[in-house]
Amino acid sequence: MKKILLTGVSGQVGHALQQQLALELADEWQVVACDRQQLDLTQPEHIRRVVRDIAPDLIINPAAYTAVDKAESERELADAINATAAGVLAEEAARLKIGLIHFSTDYVYDGTKNGVYTEDDAVNPLSVYGASKLAGEEAIRRVGLPHLILRTSWVYGSYGKNFLKTIIRLAQARENLRIVADQYGAPTADIAIARAVTELVTRWHPEDAAQTGVYHLVNRGETSWCGFASEIVAQYRALETLRGWPALAVKEIAPIATAEYPTPAKRPANSRLTTAKLEQTFGVTLPEWSIALNQVMAELVVSVAD
Ligand SMILES: NC(=O)c1ccc[n+]([C@@H]2O[C@H](COP(=O)([O-])OP(=O)(O)OC[C@H]3O[C@@H](n4cnc5c(N)ncnc54)[C@H](OP(=O)(O)O)[C@@H]3O)[C@@H](O)[C@H]2O)c1
Repeated sequence: MKKILLTGVSGQVGHALQQQLALELADEWQVVACDRQQLDLTQPEHIRRVVRDIAPDLIINPAAYTAVDKAESERELADAINATAAGVLAEEAARLKIGLIHFSTDYVYDGTKNGVYTEDDAVNPLSVYGASKLAGEEAIRRVGLPHLILRTSWVYGSYGKNFLKTIIRLAQARENLRIVADQYGAPTADIAIARAVTELVTRWHPEDAAQTGVYHLVNRGETSWCGFASEIVAQYRALETLRGWPALAVKEIAPIATAEYPTPAKRPANSRLTTAKLEQTFGVTLPEWSIALNQVMAELVVSVAD
């Protein structure tokens, strides 16, 4: 039985991946799932020891420092987890002659492009978080091992803290919501990522150097945060009676400009990423974002306290 070392299993993507890999690939792959206690990414020597002890055949690293605004004042910690640790995992994978699947972000772009981003477009992160994720990509490329760097965006799911949960909580409590409507991208469901990555595990041939590189991995289509919030409320209302969910108080979702909702970290206005490279190289496609939202809603447990 081959072994996958999976990091960040208490996070959205790590959690979804742990479940999906067990569901789909348990006959072939044993998943050694590590949380922060088992694998502390701020400790390079600890990382090296754990990887050598487990001796995996593949490393998948969804763990990251993801507090985008807090990162503005915690640059060292963000760099340690998102850049240094990614490089150490890559070095250890290279030592074992295995591949690394790593996650990156739309926040490596500055969002000024007129149109959809391809993987070859110039990067120019606007935030400490984006810069730390880009530094992680570069650290992996420097090691030169077989790798897939998967840039995803606007991740949410039924597990963990995210925009979906926040909107449901706010819509239960307030009649009026004001949501940013001038940033565009694709909300991407954790389960959609997990299904796609599980397919990649079976379709990727690390020995084929042409497959190594950066890929966009996002749900299809695009919307704004305001459009996403409106769709969450619409889908919630379509299900609330059937599921016995508490009724929402919200009456109006007003679009606002980014300038009206200042945050410590700047975000790209345009996060539209094409997934053509992923589709052409591996035949992996992700559903439209609103369909993926529907699938997440089907699993959602809602309480008044959510
Ligand atoms: N969330 C998004 O909207 C988004 C958008 C674009 C790209 N991405 C990228 O997608 C990937 C997955 O994101 P996600 O949404 O699943 O993140 P998440 O839910 O915030 O989970 C992050 C995971 O990293 C772990 N972690 C943090 N610091 C660690 C440390 N020092 N040692 C070991 N583990 C540590 C966390 O553990 P604890 O639970 O112990 O903190 C958690 O399991 C990341 O690479 C992220 O940068 C995310």
